[in-house]
Amino acid sequence: MNHFCKTTDIPDLADWLKLGRRLREEPELLGLLGRGKTLCLLFFNNSLRTRLSTQKASQLLGMEVMVMNFGSEGWSLEYRDGTIMDGGPAEHIREAAPVVAQYADIIGIRAFAKLTDREADYAEEVLQGFVQHAGVPVLNMESATAHPLQALADALTIEQFRKSKRPRVVLSWAPHPRALPQAVPNSFVEMMRALPVDLTITHPEGYELAPEFTGGLVPEYDQEKALREADFVYVKNWSSYSDYGAILSQDPDWMMTGSKLGNARFMHCLPVRRNVVVADGVLDGDRSLVLQQAANRTIAAQLALAHLIQSNF
Ligand code: CP
Repeated sequence: MNHFCKTTDIPDLADWLKLGRRLREEPELLGLLGRGKTLCLLFFNNSLRTRLSTQKASQLLGMEVMVMNFGSEGWSLEYRDGTIMDGGPAEHIREAAPVVAQYADIIGIRAFAKLTDREADYAEEVLQGFVQHAGVPVLNMESATAHPLQALADALTIEQFRKSKRPRVVLSWAPHPRALPQAVPNSFVEMMRALPVDLTITHPEGYELAPEFTGGLVPEYDQEKALREADFVYVKNWSSYSDYGAILSQDPDWMMTGSKLGNARFMHCLPVRRNVVVADGVLDGDRSLVLQQAANRTIAAQLALAHLIQSNF
């Protein structure tokens, strides 16, 4: 069975980007590929873009879609085998996942990192629980360690706006008042490594991402140096991987400003905190691509859903 859990589940990225370009011109190009199929989206965490773009994509493919805020409305789930369930969780993943599959042909899961136990988060308990027990294809709508739909939309955006064959892309850490997971930067870096781009990652010391995603790429700790001659600057906060979940810096000098951005295009997955992560002028200016990224989320979801339908049914 094929699932869409990480960017490396894309069989041929160049083909997907080519098809994505065509879908931008003709959103109904794939026809009613999903007619007769039901998609069930389970949200263990909040969402705006992922929820609406995935519903839109499924509708364009002719699918029925059901959405449940599982985190607030579902039973609390147990994931460990052999547990005596006399605590909080009321239902085991071994029943819950195949029960959802009685009503759905494909299941979408959003379940963020809890940021307390690195091993548990990087084992992807919730996403992998559905992969192992549902018996139907699973779509990752941002898990503890990965956000492949966002990374695919980001790749489509860079492909759409690049002026050279090999653009210079910078991933720049930004301050934030809350500890955020590494899912977005992990998948962004993994995706950039699969594209013809020159990637630089810049952040304060202590924010190195997991080597399995960076492939050993050495970060540039000097943000000014990293940003020189950048074509695309992707700004994002994340908490520490090595000192897992910790906020090691809130240095406001890392916020993205118009003067730092220069002639580069600004990217962010959203939601974003104005004047903490990025200055108003950048978001409101003509160098910003955040709305184009959001638009490309629908195309990314169409590509992933079409792949799951074609390869599983
Ligand atoms: N970028 C993104 O995934 O947005 P949401 O959290 O609003 O879905």
